[in-house]
Amino acid sequence: MHSPNNDKGQQVVEHNRNLPVEFAQTLQAKFGCSVSFADIEVLGAVTAIKAQGNGPAIAMRWGRKHGGCSKAISCKPGGCTSDAKVIDKAPIKGFDPVGQQAPFTKLGLTERDRVALMGAHTFGQLQVCAGGFNGIEHGNFCTEKAKLNPPEGTGGVKFSCSGSQCKPLHHFVFKGNGPKSKGKGAADRYEWGDGGFFDMTPQVFDNNYFQLMRGETFGAKDACCGKRDSKGHCLRDGAPQNATSGKPLAAGLCSAQVNWCQSNRKGRTHLKSTKMWAEVHPSFTKHAERHGNAKRLIRLGADWSLLGAAKTAAIVGEFADDEQAFFKQFVKSFGKVAELGSKPSDLKACGAVSCSGLKCGAIEFGSCSPSTPGSSTKCSLVGGLGGDGVLECGNKKYTCTVKAVSA
Ligand code: HEM
Repeated sequence: MHSPNNDKGQQVVEHNRNLPVEFAQTLQAKFGCSVSFADIEVLGAVTAIKAQGNGPAIAMRWGRKHGGCSKAISCKPGGCTSDAKVIDKAPIKGFDPVGQQAPFTKLGLTERDRVALMGAHTFGQLQVCAGGFNGIEHGNFCTEKAKLNPPEGTGGVKFSCSGSQCKPLHHFVFKGNGPKSKGKGAADRYEWGDGGFFDMTPQVFDNNYFQLMRGETFGAKDACCGKRDSKGHCLRDGAPQNATSGKPLAAGLCSAQVNWCQSNRKGRTHLKSTKMWAEVHPSFTKHAERHGNAKRLIRLGADWSLLGAAKTAAIVGEFADDEQAFFKQFVKSFGKVAELGSKPSDLKACGAVSCSGLKCGAIEFGSCSPSTPGSSTKCSLVGGLGGDGVLECGNKKYTCTVKAVSA
């Protein structure tokens, strides 16, 4: 929600569509609280989860202090490391479940916390140019019409089919002058949009991320998308081989057993879906007109590592079966993360704002749960839950949706 400053002290807002400093300051003034940018980031997360993703409500507390770094971590020359990409900075990049748990344990987070927190990948995507994973969408994909999931003809995606074989057909209108640009005209490309989604419902904070791991084994990662090179790394093109044995993949990318395949391109180990794809509203992804809004699915080593230990695999199964169990644990675990580094005594809910009807300061509320208080009831705004407000009217509390915020 809030972009940090670069090493010259200027806020970087052009790559992600984040909050400019002035807007964050306006928010602070409106809420009448002293709000740090760390608070704004947490507010952004809890609001996105609830208001955009329809996920669980997480209580908001304020008062985080700014960290002690004198300089922003920058991945530009002169910054942290020249040319380093975000993913190269990850403490562990592979599938190793022990290594993946280690940084979580260091932060006081259990295996159950890690499974729930990784479930945040249910929402959002590997963006265009995805932090070092550029080109993740390329490589072998099952083109059998009958195997595509969802089937060809779903949503607005066009496929180019010949007999039983179909490829996604993107009609890109190139506005810029990228390498594949055909000037000002339009160009057709037979491939998925740039980037990837972690599950079939990236706009919704649900348990589909876990459901897609139901029935999968840790060893399923050994299906290379393409050939295996002399170092034993999986390529994304060529005839698929087994990553461990080097033998041709007995079951092809279209078979029911192979839903994901591995690519180690540039050392950025990941899995790509072989048949699954999803389409989002164009506004949910950057420059859909140029990069497409239908993408194949991906999983990182950190995601698949959850299947690599009996304890975490069982929790994946539990969350796949029971969305509420996932939500309950996520609220707890995200709450821990959001308060790491702060003293409990520093974190507080904002002071109460008295309301006239359902208008409390600059914010007007619409409907409330469990019921909407009558207009003559005296209420005050006492807190927030996700993107909603908590109103106290008499000795009763109501959770109310925001109708309007006045200038
Ligand atoms: C620990 C291992 C993790 C790794 C290696 C990892 C890596 C990544 C990467 C590479 C992306 C794509 C970023 C981009 O497109 O620029 C991503 C997206 C995302 N991650 Fe993670 N992540 C991890 C854990 C987490 C955790 C613990 C959370 C939250 C509690 C989380 C929440 C998200 C979300 C919401 C997105 C989508 C962002 C968007 O749509 O712009 N991730 N992650």
